[in-house]
Amino acid sequence: MSISLIGRAIKESGTLRINEIASILRAKGEPLIHLGGGEPKSKAPIDAITNVSGLLNSGEIRYTPADGTIPMKQAIIRYTEEFYNRKVEPENVIASSGAKQAIMVALQAILDPQDEVLFPTPYWVSYPEMVKLCGAVPVAVKPEDGSFYPRMQDIEQNVSSYTKAIIINSPNNPTGAMYSEEFISNIVKYCEKKGIYLIMDDIYHRLIFDGKKPISCYDYASDLTDNSKLIVINGVSKQYAMTGFRIGWAVANKKVIEVMATIQGHQTSGPSVVTQKAAIGAINGIQSHVESLRLTLENNRNIMMERLNAFDGVVPTKPDGTFYTFVDFSHYSKDSLELANFLLEKVRVVTVPGVEFGLEGFLRLSTCGSVKDITEGIERIKWALDPNSPNELYIGERKLVRDWV
Ligand SMILES: Cc1ncc(COP(=O)(O)O)c(C=O)c1O
Repeated sequence: MSISLIGRAIKESGTLRINEIASILRAKGEPLIHLGGGEPKSKAPIDAITNVSGLLNSGEIRYTPADGTIPMKQAIIRYTEEFYNRKVEPENVIASSGAKQAIMVALQAILDPQDEVLFPTPYWVSYPEMVKLCGAVPVAVKPEDGSFYPRMQDIEQNVSSYTKAIIINSPNNPTGAMYSEEFISNIVKYCEKKGIYLIMDDIYHRLIFDGKKPISCYDYASDLTDNSKLIVINGVSKQYAMTGFRIGWAVANKKVIEVMATIQGHQTSGPSVVTQKAAIGAINGIQSHVESLRLTLENNRNIMMERLNAFDGVVPTKPDGTFYTFVDFSHYSKDSLELANFLLEKVRVVTVPGVEFGLEGFLRLSTCGSVKDITEGIERIKWALDPNSPNELYIGERKLVRDWV
């Protein structure tokens, strides 16, 4: 069959595949523990639901402008003012069907074939594939010191005359690392100096712990005119637990936004009016929902760290935010895909192999489930991997027998 070069080059999303396997096993009644998830379990904010119900009852559900409705843009403008201390105009803003689409359309607006896009390793699974979808070249930068906190020197060494953009995701999926103000300041200044686009994927920026405060990249920019090459991405999926609503956005210079809107207009048209209405409700509504989610995640992070610290052979790094912990399991296996499959097969625990994020020997463990999921999940993993484990483990009524070494 004739399939395009780009079509053949694109990998399936590993995280979405794992979710599918998990839902099939769960539907079969398997006693699954899902430590692979990328979405909070809390309900969408009530303000989101009430805002949208009137519209649904009216039955008048129509197309929207390609870059989002005026109230949606106003909500994003207000959000940007509140959390980034930056006043922008409607022409600086586009709403998309998820932050994922906002990033994709931004890349399509700025990349030519052969252009290079840099991002630190480990990276969100979709960055390399999105760049490839534009016919451009992903350049994953592995910090020489093996740390989860990228260093300017590693990035600078990989910048070439082909570099068109750098993507920074802090706090980061999969590590939970929140990069320092110094790093953000340096990368903003460096990109300005080099004339490189800087895409800040801030989708987790309010889900941070230990008293940390969200960082605004604009605080370090000296060019806030319409020549600015900063593209800031955010959305409602993670902070408001609204993953299924599919609303994200980008804030950038007017020309980039205009081109993004034209592309989006031909791709999917404007995002659904229904979910924009819900997103507006969440953004403009009472924010206690976000704080309560943040507190739950911080508590879950602490429990996860406590359990992992008592687990011989694994090397956890304490996340600063998000709902992920990226754990070094290389003592047990250097092949993260094989290890993840083993854990799923033997003890029915879902994890995401580090190789999906560009780093072998690691597994990404989620803390967005319940405390019971975390404690039982780690207990099962430990039982499966530790050669000194007792021979049997009960999962409910089911007895598992250790028939491997
Ligand atoms: C780093 C990162 N950016 C963007 C997204 C996309 O979010 P959305 O649901 O708004 O498309 C995700 C979702 O997993 C993510 O982890």
